[in-house]
Amino acid sequence: MSVDVKEFENVFKNVGSTDIEKTILDFSSRMQIYNAGIKEIRTKLEILDEEFKAKYAYNPIHHIESRLKSPRSIAKKVKMKGLPVTVESIAENIRDIAGIRVICNYIDDIYRVAELLTNQDDVTLVRVRDYIKEPKPSGYKSLHLIVEIPIFLSTGAKPIPVEIQIRTIAMDFWASLEHKLKYKTDNQVSEELRGRLKICAEAISELDAEMQDIHTAISLQNSP
Ligand code: GTP
Ligand code: MG
Repeated sequence: MSVDVKEFENVFKNVGSTDIEKTILDFSSRMQIYNAGIKEIRTKLEILDEEFKAKYAYNPIHHIESRLKSPRSIAKKVKMKGLPVTVESIAENIRDIAGIRVICNYIDDIYRVAELLTNQDDVTLVRVRDYIKEPKPSGYKSLHLIVEIPIFLSTGAKPIPVEIQIRTIAMDFWASLEHKLKYKTDNQVSEELRGRLKICAEAISELDAEMQDIHTAISLQNSP
């Protein structure tokens, strides 16, 4: 991972920090730690998936995506929340700097992966938002977790927050298309498309439930 120092400069330029160079350095090294948080959680998820494959000849995880929030988005978010753009305020208030998305095959896999991960001794569950049981008004569905994982530095262990979004392939398909609506400026078109997407969200929920049912039935048939 490379940290774009130029981008940090732009973010902190207007903050009026007395020691802007120190602020940028501080923040760059912090981003490195968030990246370590992503690596730790990703590895844990991969190990769980491999264990399942070995034991049950079945992968609960289809694939994993991850990203570090860009300095520009971080600055935008703190400003929107009316908070100061300082290293401390960012560390305290922005908990999705390290972000992981886990795409599962079936709905049951989502809850299984979440439980197995959060049951691990070094993973602390900070917040759960279940937008599968209670979808967003847009129709958006996913299980969101914020966890903390200790990162071992030369100075000791530091807990790092990581946001994890867990969803099925179908939910992910929907979310990626709906995300594009955010960039649509034509309100009338957007309203119509929003309505159609809402209908798609309902169709996807039925599809996910039926796929889960069939998958469970096949698994039961195949078990001795
Ligand atoms: P944020 O300040 O937006 O992070 O709010 P929050 O901490 O309450 O997080 P929330 O649980 O709302 O989840 C935020 C993230 O979930 C977003 O960055 C998106 O990736 C995703 N998300 C939430 N709602 C929607 C939605 O309606 N559509 C899509 N496509 N993604 C969504
Ligand atoms: Mg977010």
